[in-house]
Amino acid sequence: MISCANPHAQYLSHQIEIDRAIKRVLESGRYILSEEVKCFEQEFSVFNGSPFAVGVGSGTEALHLALAALSIGSGDEVITVSHTAVATIAAILLVGAKPVLVDIDPNTYTLDPKKLGAAITSRTRAVIPVHLYGQAADLDAIKEITHSKNIKIIEDCAQAHGARSGAARVGTRGDLGCFSFYPTKNLGALGDGGIITCHESSIEKKIRLLREYGWAERYHSHIVGWNSRLDELQAGILRVKLKYLDHDNSKRMALAQIYKDQLSNLDLILPFTKNGNTHVYHLFVLALTQRDKLQKFLASQEIQCGIHYPIPIHQQLAYREKLGVSGRLEITEKIANQILSLPLYPELEFSDVQTVALAIKGFFNET
Ligand SMILES: Cc1ncc(COP(=O)(O)O)c(C=O)c1O
Repeated sequence: MISCANPHAQYLSHQIEIDRAIKRVLESGRYILSEEVKCFEQEFSVFNGSPFAVGVGSGTEALHLALAALSIGSGDEVITVSHTAVATIAAILLVGAKPVLVDIDPNTYTLDPKKLGAAITSRTRAVIPVHLYGQAADLDAIKEITHSKNIKIIEDCAQAHGARSGAARVGTRGDLGCFSFYPTKNLGALGDGGIITCHESSIEKKIRLLREYGWAERYHSHIVGWNSRLDELQAGILRVKLKYLDHDNSKRMALAQIYKDQLSNLDLILPFTKNGNTHVYHLFVLALTQRDKLQKFLASQEIQCGIHYPIPIHQQLAYREKLGVSGRLEITEKIANQILSLPLYPELEFSDVQTVALAIKGFFNET
């Protein structure tokens, strides 16, 4: 079986270092918010070029706390997309604000800046562009529209660790950046985790309070807070993996190039990289009308693919009634039926990519 993602393979490729980090934490006797988290926050902020970085419990909580740190809540509107992980929208509802959804660009599948202006009202407090599949949303165009309106930008970087928009890494150009360390992400823990990057020390301090009961010091809550802490074990593991992130992303890019070369003449749409972006291929996503048939065909050849995502959030049972939708989400609804994520992870063999590409060519020859 060629799987779509394989976090176990990544553990095995750094097993000695990861095991050493785990042992170090176990023997330290400190398991929550101690040296490993401190060091990881510092190392991540240097890697990313972000002045501040605060470790939290997950990507969902990173978004939730970022919104709370900006005091966004009831009566406020936050603009984002429907073509994303449900967490992006759940976080907005969790703080009591209203998500307003706009359509995506037909090439990059990220927030379409041309649709942004019409969605802005006097209640709009923030925009959450989602850097989808490993590529930054169009931050230049988004910033141009929000700049003079005192609207904050919270970048959802959960699928784009290390990706660049121009020279800058994602998570540095907006007001805050939110990352997930779910195990299959480009930088993945062996459990849950997340981090928030930001520029302002007042925001950083507020996030540090919010992530631990609002404590300014132990047992002294200065604001109402949550429990959303990155744990020492995950931080120790992430410190090992962070060293290899650029290298792993290069491997993803090399594998993606093979797919692109091999599949270029078929009746399908290949991933598009916007000028000036460095795409780090969290996912390699095709679009084709025969998506379901191809997915079944590949499964019959022991090749596992994914769909990210099959149902836009505004069409899901839990969310239909709660969302504001700006205009028709035509592209979002269309591509949900056409997209297919091929196997891609840094440890995947070049020969496996050739096998997948050959199988796809075989499918088109037969149909
Ligand atoms: C775009 C996006 N945002 C947010 C999240 C939420 O991250 P987590 O699963 O760590 O809560 C994810 C992860 O699935 C994601 O892909």
